[in-house]
Amino acid sequence: MNFFLTTAIDYTNGAPHIGHAYEKVLADAIARYRRLKGDAVFFLTGVDQHGQKVQQSAQKQGVAPAEFVAGITSQFLSLWKTLDIRYDAWAATVDPVHKHCVQAMLQRLWETGHFYKAKQAGYYSVRQEQFLTDKERGPDGEFGPEWGEVVLIEEENYFFKLAGHRQWLLDFIDARSAAGKPFVLPDFRVAELRNAVEKLSGDLCISRPKSRLEWGIELPFDKDFVTYVWFDALSNYVSFAGYDPTPGADNAVFHSRWPALHVIGKDILVPPHGIYWPIMLRACGFSDTEMPTLLVHGWWNIAGSKMSKSQGNIVDPAELVKTFGVAATRYYLLSDIATGRDADFSEERLILRYNTDLANSLGNLLNRSLSMAKRYRGGAVKKSASPLAAFIAEKCAAYCRHMEAFEVHAAIESAWEIIGRCNGYVEETAPWKLAKDPACAEKLDGVLYTLAEALRILSILITPIIPESAEAIRSQLAWEGSVTLAQCEWGLLPDGHSLGDPVPVFPRIESK
Ligand code: ME8
Ligand code: MG
Repeated sequence: MNFFLTTAIDYTNGAPHIGHAYEKVLADAIARYRRLKGDAVFFLTGVDQHGQKVQQSAQKQGVAPAEFVAGITSQFLSLWKTLDIRYDAWAATVDPVHKHCVQAMLQRLWETGHFYKAKQAGYYSVRQEQFLTDKERGPDGEFGPEWGEVVLIEEENYFFKLAGHRQWLLDFIDARSAAGKPFVLPDFRVAELRNAVEKLSGDLCISRPKSRLEWGIELPFDKDFVTYVWFDALSNYVSFAGYDPTPGADNAVFHSRWPALHVIGKDILVPPHGIYWPIMLRACGFSDTEMPTLLVHGWWNIAGSKMSKSQGNIVDPAELVKTFGVAATRYYLLSDIATGRDADFSEERLILRYNTDLANSLGNLLNRSLSMAKRYRGGAVKKSASPLAAFIAEKCAAYCRHMEAFEVHAAIESAWEIIGRCNGYVEETAPWKLAKDPACAEKLDGVLYTLAEALRILSILITPIIPESAEAIRSQLAWEGSVTLAQCEWGLLPDGHSLGDPVPVFPRIESK
């Protein structure tokens, strides 16, 4: 099966933070799981490089916008490498491939009557880059400080006819839910989107005059304007997947990938991904069956409040990796939040989860299993039946069910139930006692094989979560078989297999 996965493109107006890191690690875990399953995965991620804020930030620093975004982009690229994010394509919106696709899309929609030009006058927030209405006024009748400088402007712009698609979108959302394939996951967010669509009335402004914003993609039908935000940013999902919007174009490669699963944060569901995007696609001729699915994750907060530059509480993921390592960082970001819900970031929690689940539970299981096999059997295991085989198969199935539902945290719990059971099994069977009694030789062989085989299977299950550590474990097990879900079948470690030497994979983190 083909599996096309994207994340939101990250805005290059500032450095990456743990929210960005979480989204990428979540998508990476899902993509790696689908590869284990044997799917042909196309994982697209990238950066959102245009816009007024970028233009302003560049100006402040006295550099050209292109230079400014190249600097921030390199921070994202280096972080994805550090975090072991294995993506298949990179969406940078200054790329000529993207520009070409966006312009062809705009031209097509212009020619088919989806746009009109109109004069807009009113209060405009420079910081939020939007016109303000009375809705945005505070109780005192003023626009609050969150809007920054507010100026009265009058200008002509191009608009996309959105409102006429309202009923179609409602019907589409309902039909997807009724078919058991909700447009938005987790499905508790469907109602939130539906309510917003119910209220949809206006159209969408899609341009900015060049006199005000130059750092963008020029409208192909009016050189005095650039397109503003959504036709530029959202279109990355198709432009970098090979889409050619020209009517009658050959889109075979694109269609072999599309439709995508978009992994996005909750702040960009309504209106962009939940309203503008399906309507943009529909206007371009996409049918209902060609609409994507939105996987909406929650936010990492700091002590209950939002991370923000002004609060000075932004957590730098590169620093986390430097201090605690990539396994600790990935494991924490994937296990301590339920997909769709918010969580509070804390370094103490990261250390606790690492020490408990990785150093103690998994690390200890690996270390004691390999040490005992070496001490009692010179490292060679004898193929045996196991009382844990059925339990492990059941947990593998649960793990897969959770992964299919994108509940990565729950899949991790299923894998760790295997670890807990195996550690309990060591205590119950006390191999150090069995080793003293020649009559228990067969029993000891069974225990050692069970532990080695369980660890081999675990090394596959944890591959999407902590790929480097999984690899290190396989190398200590001296297991060179293919790494696929099919290899989670019990008993694939051959009779007489020689295990490697134990080397600590998860050294304990001593808290300050
Ligand atoms: O929104 N916790 O870019 P962005 C979890 N360029 N996720 C978070 C987060 C947090 N604290 N803060 C942000 C943009 N995110 C646009 C997207 S897509 C066509 C254009 C998530 O850099 C956020 O929800 O502000 C979004 O999915 C992603 O990080 C990029 O946010
Ligand atoms: Mg944002």
